[in-house]
Amino acid sequence: MYLILQYYVTPQSLQYDSTWADKDLSNMQCPESISLCYRSTRIYFGTMLEAIVSAGPKVKVIHSEIPTPGPDQVLIRVAVAAANPKDWKVPEWTGTEKNQGDDGAGFVEAVGTNVAGFKKGDRCAGFHETGSAGGTYGEYALFPAHLTLHVPSNMSFEEASTVPVTAGTAAVGLFATDGGLGLPSPASPASEPMPLVIYGASGSVGAFAVQLAKKANIHPLICVAGAGAKTIEHLLDHSKGDTIVDYRKSDKAVTQAISAALSGEPLKHALDTIAHGSTSTNIAGAMTDGGTIARTLPGEGELPNGVEQFQLSVSVVHTQQQDFGRDMYELFGQGLEHGWLEPRPFEIVRGGLNSVEKALIDLKAGKASAVKYVLRIDETDGLDGTA
Ligand SMILES: NC(=O)c1ccc[n+]([C@@H]2O[C@H](COP(=O)([O-])OP(=O)(O)OC[C@H]3O[C@@H](n4cnc5c(N)ncnc54)[C@H](OP(=O)(O)O)[C@@H]3O)[C@@H](O)[C@H]2O)c1
Repeated sequence: MYLILQYYVTPQSLQYDSTWADKDLSNMQCPESISLCYRSTRIYFGTMLEAIVSAGPKVKVIHSEIPTPGPDQVLIRVAVAAANPKDWKVPEWTGTEKNQGDDGAGFVEAVGTNVAGFKKGDRCAGFHETGSAGGTYGEYALFPAHLTLHVPSNMSFEEASTVPVTAGTAAVGLFATDGGLGLPSPASPASEPMPLVIYGASGSVGAFAVQLAKKANIHPLICVAGAGAKTIEHLLDHSKGDTIVDYRKSDKAVTQAISAALSGEPLKHALDTIAHGSTSTNIAGAMTDGGTIARTLPGEGELPNGVEQFQLSVSVVHTQQQDFGRDMYELFGQGLEHGWLEPRPFEIVRGGLNSVEKALIDLKAGKASAVKYVLRIDETDGLDGTA
C-alpha cells in the first residue's frame, strides 16, 4: 500500500488531513515565502504503478506520481480496469505511449473542490478522459465527476467496470442530436414503431445500445450478432418485433434477414458498431428509402440507396456535450440500480497491470466474443494486495 499524504497550505500554516499523514506535522509553520499558496492547493505525495501502452500492443508497468484531482474530477483507487479496443488502436494509430485505460471502478479517494455527490470511500465507476493523465491502468485514476456513477451495493467492481465507455458510446450514437442519430431517448420515449438496426449487438457498444434503445421504446430492434447472440437474447422484446440476424451466413443473407424483420416498415436508422468491411453496406441494402447509419469507425466508401453515414465519437461527452454526458451517466447509474441496465459478461485476465498486454493482444486478435476483459489491480506484481 502506498501512503498518500494530503495537505494544503495557507498563508498562516500548513494544514493536513491527519488520518492520512505519516508523521505529526501540527507544529510546522508555513514559511512567509509561500504565502501565495491557497487553501485549494492539494498535493498528493507518493507513487503508484501504472501500465503504459505502446504500439504492438506492448505494455510496461512503471512508477508514476499519484494524480491530483482537478476541481471537477474524482480521484479513485482503482479496483478493476476494463479493456477497450481503442486501448491498443490509439497507440498504433498515433505512435503515442500512454496509460490508455478509460474504464474502471473502485473507491473514491478524493474529490475536486467543485465536486458534489461523491465522497471518499464511495464505490463508483467512470469514464476517464482519453489521452489525459490518470488512466485506469493504474492504482489511482481520475474521472470527470459528470461521467462518474455510483455502483450499486450488490454489484461487483468487475461488472461495473464494463459499463462507462461503451454505454456512453451507445448513448451518443443513439440519442445525441449533435453527433448521434438523435433518436427518442429514455426521457422522451418513442410513441410509434421505429425500426433500428444494431450491427454488432453482442459486442459491448451493441449490447448497451440494445438496452438503451429498449428503454426509449425503440422497436423493432434488429440485432446483428453471431456466437455472442445468446448474451443479448433475453434483452429483446419479441412481441414488438425485436429479432436477431446472424451475420455468419452471408452478406446477402444479412440484408435479406434485415428486410424481412422490417415487415414493410421503412428502415431509417442504424448503429453500426462493427463498421468494417461489408457491415454498413449490408444495412444500407435494406434501407430502400434512404436513411442514416452511425458508425463507430470511419466510413469506407459510399453506400447504396443514398444512405448517409457518419462516424460518432464518444469523446464528445468530455467536451462539447458534457450536459448530455451528465444526463446519460446519471441514467446509467439509475439503470444499474433498478436493474434495467445490465453490465456485460466479463472475463478476469489474471495478473493485474502485468496482464494489460495480454488483454489487449487478445482484443486485437478478435478473441473477445460478447465479453469484456477486466483486470484486478490488486493482482499486480509488487502490490501487497491492499491497493
Ligand atoms: N467512435 C467511438 O467513440 C468508439 C467508442 C467505443 C468503441 N468504438 C469502436 O467500436 C467497435 C466496437 O467496440 P466494442 O467495445 O463494442 O467491441 P467488442 O465488444 O470487443 O466487440 C466484440 C463483438 O464484435 C462482434 N462482431 C465481430 N465481427 C462482427 C461482424 N462482422 N458482425 C457483427 N458482429 C461482429 C462479435 O460478435 P459475436 O461474438 O456475436 O460474433 C463480438 O461479440 C470497436 O471497433 C471500437 O474500437 C468506437
